[in-house]
Amino acid sequence: MKLYIETLGCAMNMRDSEHMIAELRSKEGYELTHEAQEADLILINTCSVREKPERKLFSEIGQFAKIKKPGAKIGVCGCTASHMGEEIIKKAPSVNFVLGARNVSKISEVIHKNKAVEVELDYDDSTYVFDASRNTGVKALLNISIGCDKKCAYCIVPHTRGKEISIPSDMIVSEARKLAQNGVKELMLLGQNVNNYGVRFSTKHKRINFADLLREISDIEGIQRIRFTSPHPLHMDDEFLEEFATNTKVCKSIHMPLQSGSSNILKKMRRGYNKEWYLNRVQKLQSLLPNVTIGTDIIVGFPGESEEDFDHTMDVLQKVQFDTLYSFVYSPRPHTESHLWGDEGRVPSEIASARLSRLQAMHREILTLKAKKEIGNTHQVLVENIKETGDVFSEGRSDNGKLIKIPDEVFKIGDIVSVKVIHNEGGSLIGRPVI
Ligand code: SAH
Ligand code: SF4
Ligand code: F3S
Repeated sequence: MKLYIETLGCAMNMRDSEHMIAELRSKEGYELTHEAQEADLILINTCSVREKPERKLFSEIGQFAKIKKPGAKIGVCGCTASHMGEEIIKKAPSVNFVLGARNVSKISEVIHKNKAVEVELDYDDSTYVFDASRNTGVKALLNISIGCDKKCAYCIVPHTRGKEISIPSDMIVSEARKLAQNGVKELMLLGQNVNNYGVRFSTKHKRINFADLLREISDIEGIQRIRFTSPHPLHMDDEFLEEFATNTKVCKSIHMPLQSGSSNILKKMRRGYNKEWYLNRVQKLQSLLPNVTIGTDIIVGFPGESEEDFDHTMDVLQKVQFDTLYSFVYSPRPHTESHLWGDEGRVPSEIASARLSRLQAMHREILTLKAKKEIGNTHQVLVENIKETGDVFSEGRSDNGKLIKIPDEVFKIGDIVSVKVIHNEGGSLIGRPVI
């Protein structure tokens, strides 16, 4: 039996796809294929955070229905499955089942039930089945919490993933140990608000916060690097920042989703912090770790965003000098507060697009300057990719998240190599091993 799976959206969805692949492999004997035509089961793991990809879903289902083998099944999973449920089967009768983002561990049941719709949000997935058979290589994704309790005015995620529940720490630690025994060296801890860890468990649990969890995981032998996404700026208290700075296994690269630099817009977005708090946290972090790299997410054209509000966003971009930027034009989503505002405060799409272009242009300038400054720096690179024939090279990421290519050298995947940056090829860093 062959499985074709398409994964859209964030790291949470990537992990959920890994989970479904592992379950289907061990319980149902499926093997992965990259050709939808030869699959017995086609899964689309969807994202609904913005409107455009969601709109494309139905044309995609149509395409799959046309090319699939006779008798092959199509399943729609993930966030769009959660919020549209049965409507998906009504609109696209070729779909055999719908499985919500919170229900992925039911995959081997739903494939046997025609027209099943499993999208409950209170489904207690805290006994999250971590599957030992998943094939991860040197890096692995590991959920520490599911769902989100925040109510950011623009965001559909709380509606698709349900309330926030932390996964018991002993389960996380035992899974991390298992992964380490299977050769994993770098963990990416996942949750919508990782640094809110410990606020609610579904069973009785000792008091523990995210800094404690980082300490527990970093005691595991074999785990050499820990990353996490996404932390929330609101919960970046001193204890968290100090643990981040001093724990030697925690990589010095952090995602700090800004969304907007204007306190006025942040309030309308219900982010819970203002511009000053955000800049204060960045300052504290940079004073503890001058070489830390910071990434962010920004939404432009949120309802009511004036030119002055947008200037505050540009100001934060300049001040922080982000290393990575994911930027989006605001997209109204169902089941969100800002959707109810209708056209009130709507920013015309030409203005929003022009702002996005200005933001991205300034960020490109920042990156060019940063890449120049990188030359001569030495980093510890975890080798993730090698090419052994033709133009041989090794490639991997530094502790602070930079992708560095090492030409003419073939290391082993999983090696940690000391590399000096010698060249910057249009933003890509080229390095040489330091002996
Ligand atoms: N939990 C994370 C975000 C998850 S959603 C956090 O709090 O930052 C990923 C990103 O999608 C968000 O950071 C936001 O920038 C973007 N996003 C979410 N809803 C959006 C919308 N309605 N329109 C445009 N971008 C949106
Ligand atoms: Fe969405 Fe806000 Fe939750 Fe992030 S914190 S997932 S932006 S509601
Ligand atoms: Fe992730 Fe998209 Fe869902 S960003 S949480 S897959 S809506």
